[in-house]
Amino acid sequence: MPSATKEELLEKIRQNILLSQVCPELAKGATQLVFGDGNPESAIVFIGEAPGKKEDETGLPFVGAAGKFLNEMLKTIGLIRSDVYITNIVKYRPPNNRDPLPEEKKAFLPYLQRQLEVIRPQLVVTLGRHAASCFLPGLSISSEHGKAKRLTLAFDNDKLSIVLLPLFHPAAALYNGSMRQTLIDDFSRIPMIIKASAAKPNYEQLTLQ
Ligand code: URA
Repeated sequence: MPSATKEELLEKIRQNILLSQVCPELAKGATQLVFGDGNPESAIVFIGEAPGKKEDETGLPFVGAAGKFLNEMLKTIGLIRSDVYITNIVKYRPPNNRDPLPEEKKAFLPYLQRQLEVIRPQLVVTLGRHAASCFLPGLSISSEHGKAKRLTLAFDNDKLSIVLLPLFHPAAALYNGSMRQTLIDDFSRIPMIIKASAAKPNYEQLTLQ
């Protein structure tokens, strides 16, 4: 029997979130689950915090103002959305776009972990402090943005070496001139980081938490 494709495995994870009724309160207030979008064969996965209004309406991550800015930055490094995979930690829109709660991030983390286990990216780019802190708890995004780190993600029966690049969130940087420029500068290092990450890694053991 042929083994399942990445698309099929991701679809199973999506179904599992629905069947397991993850964060039922959030689900009740949201229009739909925003699971992820893009190319599951990509070497790069972008992770944001949670869907906003536009994302809730369309079922796709990063399609509002922050998404437009993300698309612009992708273009500057010669990529389009469909070249990369984009998702969020929390997969339902929090009411009034409030920050996701620690228990909501915790509830969705195993599913994000499984997405990464299926996609097996070389580079994980976190957008904002909520996504970054899933990998590096207590991380200060203002001092660690743009600094690539090698991590080993430990799964149940498997592990994966990745490079993690914590970046500012495009929504926060959108209307803040200096943060915007910093994000653009950090983003422009992605091609170099991808190239360097193909070199022999020097693992640092770490689990998602
Ligand atoms: N902000 C996020 O963190 N994620 C989205 O999908 C949209 C905006």
